[in-house]
Amino acid sequence: DVAELDERYEKSFTIGAAVETSQLEGKDGEMLKKHYNSLVAENIMKPINIQPEEGKFNFKEADKIVKFAKENDMDLRFHTLIWHSQVPEWFFLDKEGKKMVDETDPKQREKNKKLLLKRVETHVKTIVKRYKNDVDSWDVVNEVIDEYAPNDKGLRESPWYQITGTDYIAVAFETARRFAGKDAKLYINDYNTEVEPKRTHLYNLVKELLEQGVPIDGVGHQGHIQLGWPSLQETRDSINMFASLGLDNQITELDVSLYGWPPRPAFKSYEEIPDEVFQAQAERYDALFKLYEELDDKISNVTFWGITDNHTWLDDRAEEYNDGVGKDAPFVFDPYYNVKPAYWAIID
Ligand code: XIL
Repeated sequence: DVAELDERYEKSFTIGAAVETSQLEGKDGEMLKKHYNSLVAENIMKPINIQPEEGKFNFKEADKIVKFAKENDMDLRFHTLIWHSQVPEWFFLDKEGKKMVDETDPKQREKNKKLLLKRVETHVKTIVKRYKNDVDSWDVVNEVIDEYAPNDKGLRESPWYQITGTDYIAVAFETARRFAGKDAKLYINDYNTEVEPKRTHLYNLVKELLEQGVPIDGVGHQGHIQLGWPSLQETRDSINMFASLGLDNQITELDVSLYGWPPRPAFKSYEEIPDEVFQAQAERYDALFKLYEELDDKISNVTFWGITDNHTWLDDRAEEYNDGVGKDAPFVFDPYYNVKPAYWAIID
């Protein structure tokens, strides 16, 4: 019988896992109850699933996750109110069904901006009102920084941005605060937050928003990392940077891929992965969790983007770049629900 992860880190931060609703039962459900005290939906709380058509909210699947968290006394992260991906097209169409980004008339553009901001408000308000007593931490916006953006602030030029500038971010946070109350914790979430130039772009944006009075409580660092990247120093510096703004930090989507980017070549099956690789992964996990513990007054939650190696979005990527066959293994539990060297590394 192995020690529980959440218990091990009880004094430092909560330990979460991302799940599909199908994983609330069976062996996955048992793992959740044993090792984790925080939960997040891998997909079903994203805009495309929650409001697929304007005004038609679909809370059925989301409710199952909320219920599981409540029944098992787990914290709940909401992922994610606003994102450029997995978002239905209707958000960005005007009343005539025309794409707002194509509009050139200044007057109509002004109208479109108003309409989209109203939709942001309605989306956020409806969800937050429903779940305000259930959710502890909200990813209010996700991935608004893009290091390859053509502007010098690194602002992602998604339709949200093209139509409203950065107003969609302010409106999303303000609406979330208004309906969730002062105790709700509101996060701006992103990947590659450890490295330049992205972390400075994010830092500058957050600082500016805070100065404008936008209610941001913390930064979510996705933490989709690799065996040797990013460095621990970059990770430490990033956490400290955001903490210096008075913000909380959460590690929201942790997985340690065995591959670089792109993930090529990849092992074809789990059985093919050599022990040395799992050893290297254990060392990586060891160093990482030591760092998180060192910084635990600045980090309130560490969430894995899955439970065991039998279900990880990284497999889709490994497959995509390797002619349809590739297996990643980013977690501390193997596909058969056994502990890996990485588990012992973070427990001991
Ligand atoms: C991923 C899910 O894991 C996949 O199942 C889905 O097909 C695509 O989205 N950053 C995020 C997450 O913020 O929402 C993404 O989740 C992974 C990258």
